[in-house]
Amino acid sequence: MSLQGKKIVLGITGSIAAYKAAVLIRLLIKKGAEVQVVITPAGKEFITPITLSALTSKPVISEFFAQRDGSWHSHVALGQWADAMLVAPATASSIGKMAHGIADNMLITTYLSMKAPVFVAPAMDLDMFAHPSTTANLNTLRSYGNHIIEPAEGELASHLVGKGRMEEPENIVAYLERYFAQRDELAGKKIVITAGPTYEKIDPVRFIGNYSSGKMGFALAEECAARGAEVTLVAGPVQMKTVHPTIRRIDVESCAEMYEATTAAFTEANAAILCAAVADFTPETTAVTKIKREGDDLVLRLKPTHDIAAALGRMKQPHQRLVGFALETNDETAHAQDKLRRKNLDFIVLNSLRDAGAGFRHDTNKVTIISESDIKEYPLKSKTEVAKDIVDELVAKVNSQRTTVNSQQTTDKL
Ligand code: C5P
Repeated sequence: MSLQGKKIVLGITGSIAAYKAAVLIRLLIKKGAEVQVVITPAGKEFITPITLSALTSKPVISEFFAQRDGSWHSHVALGQWADAMLVAPATASSIGKMAHGIADNMLITTYLSMKAPVFVAPAMDLDMFAHPSTTANLNTLRSYGNHIIEPAEGELASHLVGKGRMEEPENIVAYLERYFAQRDELAGKKIVITAGPTYEKIDPVRFIGNYSSGKMGFALAEECAARGAEVTLVAGPVQMKTVHPTIRRIDVESCAEMYEATTAAFTEANAAILCAAVADFTPETTAVTKIKREGDDLVLRLKPTHDIAAALGRMKQPHQRLVGFALETNDETAHAQDKLRRKNLDFIVLNSLRDAGAGFRHDTNKVTIISESDIKEYPLKSKTEVAKDIVDELVAKVNSQRTTVNSQQTTDKL
């Protein structure tokens, strides 16, 4: 992997971690990138522009205007020049200004003018990092489509130990390399993703539902779209927003609606990831008016719903890939393997309710990816990171199909 020819605007803000920017620049340049530094006034208190311009072979940009000759730096031109903007280190203050568009220095105006993807590597003390305002501002940046390179845990400049240390330059560079390497991996591929719960109506005000938040499915949709796929996201009732502009979202409520939308989209698709927690049963009839409290008990008769995964498994053509999920409470692997076969899936993502931090409503998940030929266990990670692992696996499956098709063509020619 490399960053050959990539033009990177490196934004440096006023954190002690700014001293690591020198190493970061060396590594970026070694990988073939061209680096233009934009530094905040506070950043210059931590590392000198002379060091930075010597390393990048370019004057460092900090002020809007050159004092003596009246010339000025165009943040708009920088926004169009760059292939990526990396803010490292990013202080709580700059993150706050970026989130709220407070353009009182050259770095923030450059950020607001940026046409290229933006990567942010926070650096601050553990309590500042844990403050709800920092969390909210980082989430705002995520909602703008910016990539947050999570800080590491460890000893901080204050000698306190915790999360807030800027990620090491090597890992930041690896993050950028991975981004550029993966950006077009799924270009031209159509992927259908189901997410969230389904609601099965009992009467006009009540339903049978479940605790699914949709977070995992939405993270998968973002990851596939980031790698160039055309995503159709069929979402049950959730409080979630999509970020990537190309995601086509179809909102549904019941299993029947999800079945219609998903089977229709699958005919055109290269793959489907079925992440939704779909109801297995639905009321036989939906009462037209609100059911009143009458008598001692109430019997609801339920009938089975469509199994969307199994239906797609039957529809599946040789060029199509199908991924399912299994949330299990006991004999996890055996149950997941059974579903893999029964539903004709290419692989299944297993999460167990026995693992702390995994499953419904959490921001984290701990999964095992099971296919016919192997079982891969992953540690507890954020759902965004888990989505990357799952999509890596999907890319491998899509490509293995490409190899098969090629070898088939070769055989045909012989
Ligand atoms: O059988 P079980 O519900 O545990 O299987 C889970 C997998 O099947 C998930 O991928 C889920 O999205 C999918 N599923 C479905 N339609 C259903 C039930 C489950 O697509 N009615």
